Amino acid sequence: MKNSRRVTLSWDGRPSEGARPPLAKAAALEPVYCADDGSALYAGDNLQVMRAMARAVGEVFSLVYMDPPFLTGRVHEATSRGDRATRPAFDDRWTDRASYLEALGPRIAAARALLAPHGSLVVHVDPKTSHYVKVLCDELFGEDAFASEIVWRYRRWPSKTPNFQRVHDVLLRYRKDPATPPRWNVLYEPLAPSTLAAWGKKKQRAVVGEGGRRLRSSSTDEATPGVPMGDVWDIGVIAPVSRERTGYPSQKPEALLERVIGALSNEGDWVLDPYAGSGTTLAVARRMGRRAAGIDESAVALETAAARLRGLAPLAEGAPAPAC
Ligand SMILES: C[S@@+](CC[C@H](N)C(=O)[O-])C[C@H]1O[C@@H](n2cnc3c(N)ncnc32)[C@H](O)[C@@H]1O
Repeated sequence: MKNSRRVTLSWDGRPSEGARPPLAKAAALEPVYCADDGSALYAGDNLQVMRAMARAVGEVFSLVYMDPPFLTGRVHEATSRGDRATRPAFDDRWTDRASYLEALGPRIAAARALLAPHGSLVVHVDPKTSHYVKVLCDELFGEDAFASEIVWRYRRWPSKTPNFQRVHDVLLRYRKDPATPPRWNVLYEPLAPSTLAAWGKKKQRAVVGEGGRRLRSSSTDEATPGVPMGDVWDIGVIAPVSRERTGYPSQKPEALLERVIGALSNEGDWVLDPYAGSGTTLAVARRMGRRAAGIDESAVALETAAARLRGLAPLAEGAPAPAC
């Protein structure tokens, strides 16, 4: 579809493009944790740090995964794993939706500036904000850069509500440059029971007639790896007793990040998470042989993520982190 007329999102008092506040102060790139391969965790406002990264390293990331606060209107607390004591981790209170979008927009733009031409941004939001964030991303990336809307479907204890249970989040994927072949590794999911019953685990091939019309399928001798993965992902939330649970609020399951990172980056690639939280993206990326950078402004997040990463990197307790 040709889009000759640009569609944009507007709200009362939205700053114009030229009126965006300039970078107040150049952020120094001083990691609070770093590993031998250059993977690092930075403290501070991610807008400042991403802008400083853009000046220092440019377009190096194959993947930026962003999991911002969801406009819940409350302070989220971390629970200590031992004595179950709680303390504030991050503040998700905003004047209104407009102020939330005013904060998110420049951060999406800053993340885009760090992507390699083959790279992707994945923004993780919920259905209350996903439609606004999608239009914001269309503006910032161009509509043709939109690649996927992934629905992460989970199961949880039902709430009392005169409504359908809310059991999904939304992950929006945008490509930096639609003209460049993207970093892409196809993932597979198991065959449906009906397909297994009809064809077993043999690969099927479409028999195509004149004009490219698919006539039927035939079975080959090759074993199938499954069906290419769709955009609805059924992945459980982290169980209360799971070993991966850190006690940090809004922690995402490693299985979710394994899919995002596995599909959109290769070993040795750089992956960035500007809303690092408990460090899920960094932990999974490093385990999968990627180099990872994370940013967070919460001291509780940085402490949690650094401890988690120390469990992966063979650093002695209290030893100075290696220079990046
Ligand atoms: C939803 S949590 C991320 C959870 C993470 N994906 C995980 O699995 O643990 C959002 C995080 O973004 C951080 N944050 C919010 N605004 C920020 C900003 N402007 N700069 C840096 N970090 C920010 C919060 O401190 C919080 O840790």
